[in-house]
Amino acid sequence: MAPIATLAASAPKATDLRSDLDLAHWEFERILELSLQIKANPQRFARALEGRYLSLLFEKPSLRTRLTFELAIKQLGGDAVAQMGPIAEREPIKDVARNLERWTHCIVARVFSQHTVDQLAEWASIPVINALSDRFHPCQALADMQTLRERFGRLKGLKLVFVGDANNVAHSLMLCAARAGMEFVLSSPPGVDPDAATLAAAQAMAVERGASIELIRDPRQAVNGAHAVYTDVWASMGQEHEAQQRRQVFQPYQVTADLMRLARPEAVFLHCLPAHRGEEATDAVLESPASVVFDQAENRLHAQKALLVHLLS
Ligand code: CP
Ligand code: NVA
Repeated sequence: MAPIATLAASAPKATDLRSDLDLAHWEFERILELSLQIKANPQRFARALEGRYLSLLFEKPSLRTRLTFELAIKQLGGDAVAQMGPIAEREPIKDVARNLERWTHCIVARVFSQHTVDQLAEWASIPVINALSDRFHPCQALADMQTLRERFGRLKGLKLVFVGDANNVAHSLMLCAARAGMEFVLSSPPGVDPDAATLAAAQAMAVERGASIELIRDPRQAVNGAHAVYTDVWASMGQEHEAQQRRQVFQPYQVTADLMRLARPEAVFLHCLPAHRGEEATDAVLESPASVVFDQAENRLHAQKALLVHLLS
């Protein structure tokens, strides 16, 4: 990865992070590089966003995302205000956006529908960051890329296998893996497919970046030779009523110690958390030396600091 000083802006800077697609390649690389610098020397950035305020809007629960955004802005010299609950219940999104832009410098929104993030971005003149929607989780993917890069010293050429649901986390990882020149495999049950537009965008980016995107139904075949095996819950927030039926569909996709043995000996196990132990992954895998789930959680803080510095300064 190029040193930060040499990463010249060959495309304009993103105004929002509605999805992973909003970032130009140079921005993706700059954010990863900046995140490592901030992690190594947080004090250097202690006043980077002095006097800046975030609006945190969360329609769904959160531990990691909400707390790491609050900590990130505070450790950069700014502060945050937060509101839980439906964003557009009392007034239209376009009015919410035009209130928040008068008081704060950035909106971080966790929403049920991607449309809500897109609408906020359309109406607010300040940056809008997707803190998870039904389609994407770009902040998670940034932290995950950092975690893999720290572990392997590179991203290009790594084989990352996502086993389970073709969900928001899988979509964002697929896009970042394509951008980073990785070999990405999604192993999901028949009938559980990634969003067609996201898959097409990832495939186009993969061609451009020397990456590959493959769908392999058989999880044992999929993880063969993997550097990293990733899974997430089988029922995402908003799908709780389908949990029982989903357990049956996804059971063959549980990440077990046996499955991990088919990956490379040095392979790592990733999960965005929260995990349902005994469902998508066994407790033994989550607690194994291969598990880097708490490194991922830690890197949420550093990666989001880098994202905020990038978008707000
Ligand atoms: N991984 C993640 O986004 O966690 P939270 O739902 O706790 O924010
Ligand atoms: N796919 C999960 C991720 C939680 C961080 C969900 O949307 O609930």
